[in-house]
Amino acid sequence: MTIQSTTPPTSPPEGAAAIDQRTLRDAFGAFPSGVVAVAASVKGQLTGIAASSFTSVSIDPPLVSFSIAATSSTWPLLREAGRMGISVLADHHDVVCRQLAGPREERFTGLPFKVTTDGAVLLDEAVATYDCSVHAEVTAGDHVIVVLRVHRVGAGDGHHPLVFHRSAFAKLHRDDLDPSRLDGRINGADVDRGAAEGAPERSARDEAEDAA
Ligand SMILES: Cc1cc2nc3c(=O)[nH]c(=O)nc-3n(C[C@H](O)[C@H](O)[C@H](O)COP(=O)(O)O)c2cc1C
Repeated sequence: MTIQSTTPPTSPPEGAAAIDQRTLRDAFGAFPSGVVAVAASVKGQLTGIAASSFTSVSIDPPLVSFSIAATSSTWPLLREAGRMGISVLADHHDVVCRQLAGPREERFTGLPFKVTTDGAVLLDEAVATYDCSVHAEVTAGDHVIVVLRVHRVGAGDGHHPLVFHRSAFAKLHRDDLDPSRLDGRINGADVDRGAAEGAPERSARDEAEDAA
């Protein structure tokens, strides 16, 4: 496991004005994201959080990341997990998300999930799941960027993702992604019409990325 660290946070560079924290939080909140459950059974204890900082990082090797507050009381235990599960929350998981962000002892109460033999906790009805191990941790200001190696992925069962935007939950409007309104092209790549009908949702995006 690679552990790297940046220099500790400093005051703003000379001549630069400090950014008001409220302004910064609002600007961060303008960027919409999905939400994942990061969870594992560690030494027999279910542990995890909800995280909106999840993102894909690398195809080869397969890597993803999320950021966790340096003050987190959960991370010191969770990072000991040999494997941890990432479950992309579905748009009916708003209550689940709040529960996973709430009091530690209640986070998994009543939740439907599976635990792999290696201890990754994967939620039922997730949009996609990843079975991961910690690849690297990078201290970055008041957070730690956790890079995870992906060992296995689960495609989910067709649910739509929960969206987190401006401190509130939202749903995707699939009509906005109707290829017929996009003149058959996204970012110069041909749109896979099957993607709009639900099943292989990644195809159009993959093609767009390949074309970039
Ligand atoms: C929608 C949502 C997104 C969140 N995203 C993150 C995140 O990316 N990183 C993080 O450290 N905490 C995030 N949290 C907070 C954690 O889920 C959890 O409440 C926090 O880690 C609890 O503190 P603990 O780590 O001391 O248990 C998020 C909470 C919510 C409701």
